[in-house]
Amino acid sequence: MYSRIIGTGKYLPEKILTNFDLEKMVDTTDEWIRTRTGIEHRHIAADNEATSDLAYKAGLAAIEDAGLTAADIDFVLVGTTTPDLIFPNVGCLVQEKLGIRGTPAFSLEAACSGFLYALVVADQFIRTGQVRRALVIGAETMSRIMDWTDRETCVLFGDGAGAVILEAAEEPGIIYSTLGADGRYRELLYASSGVSTRHRENSDIPALRMKGNEVFKVAVRTLESLVDDVIAKNNIEKGQIDWLIPHQANIRIINAMAKRLEMPMERVVLTVKTHGNTSAASVPMALDTAIRDGRIKRGDMLLLEAFGGGFTWGACLIRY
Ligand code: UT7
Repeated sequence: MYSRIIGTGKYLPEKILTNFDLEKMVDTTDEWIRTRTGIEHRHIAADNEATSDLAYKAGLAAIEDAGLTAADIDFVLVGTTTPDLIFPNVGCLVQEKLGIRGTPAFSLEAACSGFLYALVVADQFIRTGQVRRALVIGAETMSRIMDWTDRETCVLFGDGAGAVILEAAEEPGIIYSTLGADGRYRELLYASSGVSTRHRENSDIPALRMKGNEVFKVAVRTLESLVDDVIAKNNIEKGQIDWLIPHQANIRIINAMAKRLEMPMERVVLTVKTHGNTSAASVPMALDTAIRDGRIKRGDMLLLEAFGGGFTWGACLIRY
């Protein structure tokens, strides 16, 4: 038994924040942001939108794309680092919005690798026969954990949600997946306060903190060995991968991965320019974008990869 993708969706909040808008907020320039990151603008959730609202809209789009109704879904899993509440978890909030009952519904937190982690978990449930159709979502409102006075982080992130429907199948689908983590690097990328540490922090509002330059180096090193591992374990040639769907943190990291895979940039799905870094939402939104505009076709070989806070990382080799 395998799982395969039968539908995708995404949702981006209406409000757009451009680099020029940011020039008025912090000491930065459009030129610096574009050349160092590849970002031109990002979307920001409205005051009345929470992560579960974004997740629900992306999930519904994926359900419709698969030609299903919500009642056909028997597993809901959301990767997110910016949940609406401590609990109920975002999976339960999405399940309720979809009007379905009784299915397992939960969220998991693996920062920018959250969608890859969720996809791999759902794949395991399908492969063991416990689940037939899973709704897997990556959704974030990163704008809510930004320190809007910190130019080193607030120019990088955006909000959004992407979703896939995984269905049990006799042929893959997901051919291979790998996940990893290394907790030693927590000081390089973290949120400044949380639930059980709040009493000893100065601020009740968590803010994302990052030593970008150091994260950059570990990200490139880790992702390079990750893609090497995928190639070696599956005994494939680099040229057999049709599309790279990377986490969209920085165009320079993505360029390094394309180089490692000897892939022309036309075969790499890029959304960082208009989405910014949307953490767990970035990979499923990029996937949906390239499927809907017709670039990715049935039968294509896809490599999804992500790296983020924790540190966490993951990759999936998929026959679409
Ligand atoms: O998604 C989770 C994983 N996250 C990532 O993968 C992010 C990885 N890191 C990065 O993408 C990059 O390191 C950044 C985009 C965050 C930064 O780019 P960089 O080329 O590594 O720049 P830097 O941190 O070395 O900073 C270079 C200069 C510094 O000034 P000095 O010390 O050279 O005078 C910074 O203070 O750029 C300055 N700087 C800025 N200048 C204008 C930092 N942020 C800004 C800014 N506008 N927004």
